[in-house]
Amino acid sequence: MPHITSAELYQKAYDESTKNKDSYWNRIAETFEWDTKWDKTQSGDFNNLDIKWFDGGKLNITENCLDRHVKEHPNKIAIHWEPNDPSEKAKTFTYKELLENVNRFANVLKDKNVKKGDRVCFYMSMVPELLFGVLASARIGAIHSVVFGGFSAKALAGRINDCDCKIVVTCDEAPRGEKKVQLKEITDQACKEAPSVETVLIYRRTGVKINIEPNRDFYLNELMQSAQPECKPEIMNSEDPLFILYTSGSTGKPKGLQHSIAGYMLWASETFKEVFQYGQNDIFWCTADIGWITGHSYITYGPLLNGATQVMFEGVPTFPTPSRFWDIVEKYKVSHFYTAPTAIRALEACDINCVKKADLSSLKVLGSVGEPINEEAWNWYNKEIGQEKCPIVDTWWQTETGGIMISNIAGVTPAIACHATNPLPAVEPILVDDKGEVISGNPAKGNLCIKNPWPGVARTIYGDHERYKQTYFSAYPGLYFTGDGAKRDENGNYRITGRVDDVINVSGHRIGTAEVEDVIDEHESVVEAAVVGFPHPIKGQGIFAYLTPSSEGSINEDDLFIELNKLLTQKIGPIAKLDKIIITNGLPKTRSGKIMRRILRKIAASEFETLGDISTLLNPEVVEELISKLK
Ligand code: WTA
Repeated sequence: MPHITSAELYQKAYDESTKNKDSYWNRIAETFEWDTKWDKTQSGDFNNLDIKWFDGGKLNITENCLDRHVKEHPNKIAIHWEPNDPSEKAKTFTYKELLENVNRFANVLKDKNVKKGDRVCFYMSMVPELLFGVLASARIGAIHSVVFGGFSAKALAGRINDCDCKIVVTCDEAPRGEKKVQLKEITDQACKEAPSVETVLIYRRTGVKINIEPNRDFYLNELMQSAQPECKPEIMNSEDPLFILYTSGSTGKPKGLQHSIAGYMLWASETFKEVFQYGQNDIFWCTADIGWITGHSYITYGPLLNGATQVMFEGVPTFPTPSRFWDIVEKYKVSHFYTAPTAIRALEACDINCVKKADLSSLKVLGSVGEPINEEAWNWYNKEIGQEKCPIVDTWWQTETGGIMISNIAGVTPAIACHATNPLPAVEPILVDDKGEVISGNPAKGNLCIKNPWPGVARTIYGDHERYKQTYFSAYPGLYFTGDGAKRDENGNYRITGRVDDVINVSGHRIGTAEVEDVIDEHESVVEAAVVGFPHPIKGQGIFAYLTPSSEGSINEDDLFIELNKLLTQKIGPIAKLDKIIITNGLPKTRSGKIMRRILRKIAASEFETLGDISTLLNPEVVEELISKLK
């Protein structure tokens, strides 16, 4: 049950969490099951980056997610699984059934020689088996690396290779709306470039005929059926890694953020319980995919650690009709609904009768995550979905933070449109200017950093601690730099304004501009490319590419657009597709040859009047050319 049930208790918890950190966390940690109690609550800081929480403690996170609830309420429903197509049969799993499935899966992994510390890659759709598999991996002490089922073979191979996975779990194919994604075929392609893979397990979802590589490929369905439903949990150290999750940054290849067991467990659990004010008879539904951090923390771990009942949905918001989300809310009497602004905007654009015909009276709390929510979407969500009686929690956090960091607490602290508002206990946000000076007083605007480690912070980038240091802790030494900009109003409420680095947030998914540019540069007609984000009515941000061609005149812009998007789909996945391109003679550069992305962003957003001083550019005439093409 939530503990922070009043504004006073929030303040009290916040004060204690920052002043008496150890006692605050010890008390919370004691509510979990441990094999051996920890010796030291926390050590390390953002200077030495040797961060540890509950060191010396031993536990298995799945005992906390499953076994302890099975003892208390074996027949409570853990998961209502809703298939892509509503005419297919839905499935329900009690905590007891969930544990049995996890154990069976764990025994299959063991049988395939997966050992403690091995990395297991999941490239699946939102089937219950993905949830079983992730927990099974945690049960035997392996490290899961879930790759979103929308990534391409190349992107999958890159992620398998980076952490040297010897096993990949996939599906034959994945129904997604009207389409089917050929997950096994893509996995086969990826495996050609991923020599570490010894075993591929396939969950038979549709039964389509697939290629089977003898001695490498096995159907999970049969293996699970004959596996034992008991599996002793591996006893792990608090700081052993639980999972790796890849995310894009402003430079280089995607980075595998590594989270450790105990700290992440506490963070996912606490933030779930307090922010959403989840009560034992509530029905929680997070619409994210387990391929992203939101699906890790608020489908897999947060709700299960709290013994919650939740909905897991395989499909998309608009299939078979744009009423689907609301039909599901009605069907399962969802009380807590957590989604992304991009979905809200997409559904807002549909006929309002899609909402009106559903009974949404079960809803109590709404949540938003993934990108700044614009005022119009917030108002629509509040009025049409929440019927002005459900608090909206605007939850700001990141793959790196493990769980929610800044958010109002449902019904307890005030919701303010478009504001994440207040830091959760143990989170110490500060704003700094570009020179690294801390901006005190209110109102204020600056780069958002966090002081002092909290339990859920990612401990490293897999295999590259130096990059972890460089990426997050070098801009402002001693502070974690989030990559986001934020404002603080006169009452200290935070409003996140979006990325200040070269990361574009497309439909709540992070895409590094450098990654996209690298792919575009491979095209023979392009000499140089610069990619920026620009405001997009549904996606939040779209991808805009400025392209310098190898031979002007001979290029057809429409053809190039199609070819580049084909290439990006192949190399990264459809989420990296361009929304707009413009062919130009050159890119605005400083005298030292650096592309002025600030100007490109403004041009892409049609903010021609506020370009600032362009006289110091090497080639100011290019700016005029771009403006005349776009005006
Ligand atoms: C953005 C998703 C504004 C932000 C959980 C952050 C948000 C990035 C919000 C992390 C929010 C997430 N308001 N912006 N409520 N939530 N963001 O790693 O730019 O996929 O840095 O984690 O999403 O994206 P990630």
